[in-house]
Amino acid sequence: MSNEPRDEDAGEAIVYLNGRFLPVSEACIPVTDRGFLFGDGVYEVIPAYGGRLLRLPHHLQRLQNSLDGIRLHNPLSSDRWRAILEELLQRNRALAGPDNDQSVYLQVTRGSAAKRDHRFPEEVVPTVYATSTPLPAPDPAIAEHGIRAVSLDDIRWRYCDIKAVTLLPNVLLRQQATERDAAEAILIRDGLAIEGSASNLFIVRDGIIETPPKGPQMLPGITRDLVLELAARHGLAARESDIPEALLRTAAEIWITSSTREIVPVTELDGKAVGDGRPGPLWKKMSALYRDYKDAVRRGAAE
Ligand SMILES: Cc1ncc(COP(=O)(O)O)c(C=O)c1O
Repeated sequence: MSNEPRDEDAGEAIVYLNGRFLPVSEACIPVTDRGFLFGDGVYEVIPAYGGRLLRLPHHLQRLQNSLDGIRLHNPLSSDRWRAILEELLQRNRALAGPDNDQSVYLQVTRGSAAKRDHRFPEEVVPTVYATSTPLPAPDPAIAEHGIRAVSLDDIRWRYCDIKAVTLLPNVLLRQQATERDAAEAILIRDGLAIEGSASNLFIVRDGIIETPPKGPQMLPGITRDLVLELAARHGLAARESDIPEALLRTAAEIWITSSTREIVPVTELDGKAVGDGRPGPLWKKMSALYRDYKDAVRRGAAE
């Protein structure tokens, strides 16, 4: 097929799969793909504002770390990744809203081998898939009221710093939260609050913003790092520090962060109000700083 954008594709998302751009309904992978059989792959989610990717080098570095973590070579150079993702954003421009905010999803699996075998196959070609979808602006109701969260035992494996597609524990945890009418599960391991099922965790205590230090127990979130950077740049006190469960429960504010949800105030934890039960003053400051940062990305004044 032609790789040129076609008018008839305007209603359907275009994806990138193994070297080709094509409509999502035509994109297929073999059932022998190890991503399908074993969850043997890694992924990234990258927001783009006004068609510009936020912190692409950071996301590509984390992708590299994830690939190193599963001992899979990176099939593409950083320049090639950028070119593919920018073309994808362009091809899906017509589907995005007037702001042209989109979320890119990319995935690399160990590829497809004839025989199902846990051992790495020899000479297998990784599967590379990417897509972009419209990224809606944060829901104003969340800024007004915040979200409910529940705390749950962290049942995940020991390499949570790898952004692996093997997300069954996260799926089960998020579903449990949903069934308890909560929008996120905050995961507790060895008495410490670690992160959400698909987000990082911040609390505010004595006027200081705190987030757990990085390690194999959590995903090093790009939004998390940006929040710490913005705090430092704008003179807000912030530190990386373990959050024992008891401190989580007495925090003045709780936030969760992720690329697609941005910074979300948690106003109820396990049925009890966090602080006064409304989004807190430091959340308001930080979310304004984050909004300004996104605008700078839109203008091309920040990445
Ligand atoms: C388990 C987990 N932690 C943290 C994050 C936040 O990472 P980022 O800010 O890079 O989106 C995510 C994102 O999906 C996640 O799945």
